[in-house]
Amino acid sequence: MAVRLGDTAPDFTADTTQGTINFHEWLGDSWGVLFSHPKDFTPVCTTELGYVAKIKPEFEKRNVKVIGLSVDPVESHVKWEGDIEETQGTAVNFPMIGDPDRKVADLYDMIHPNANDTMTVRSVFVIGPDKKVKLTITYPASTGRNFDEILRVIDSLQLTAGYKVATPANWQHGGDVIIVPAVSDDEAKDLFPGGWDEQKPYLRVTKQPNL
Ligand code: BEZ
Repeated sequence: MAVRLGDTAPDFTADTTQGTINFHEWLGDSWGVLFSHPKDFTPVCTTELGYVAKIKPEFEKRNVKVIGLSVDPVESHVKWEGDIEETQGTAVNFPMIGDPDRKVADLYDMIHPNANDTMTVRSVFVIGPDKKVKLTITYPASTGRNFDEILRVIDSLQLTAGYKVATPANWQHGGDVIIVPAVSDDEAKDLFPGGWDEQKPYLRVTKQPNL
């Protein structure tokens, strides 16, 4: 069964490169990113994991924990981490789940048999502190992910969780935002005292409120 936006992220206990974890306990009050890679000792995955390790401080700044997964065992991940550090210049500094029996992969519907029946696709799940799924993205094995985009979406998710705004196309932190249509002009006067640019009654653009 697919995991959909708004669902509670399925909980599990699994072996990782940093010991056995219970997923929900491990998340605690943090946001989380759970992402799968198709197979250990493969080139695109090697670059992805190196990049995520490099930008881990950006996730930490946003109170986000990251955790990887493939259907290879933990011992294989540990051997591969040496290659990742050697070729990408950064040691893997977050846990990677070993899932040889595909328990977690099946829970999260990460194996798409018509693409490949043994490897996971490149899934990304962003999970909020309420354990609800806020974002799902699926890339094919042949395309490495854009983790800067995932940080950008997390910025939008965290902003829109706290303010009655939405973010426009290609928005980046600091850019103007949109007042959600459910907010009346009267309410908007209180919420956005700096005012807004009304381009259409349903398109009211205002400054990012939490700067
Ligand atoms: C890779 O990570 O390079 C990869 C993994 C599976 C299939 C194709 C590429």
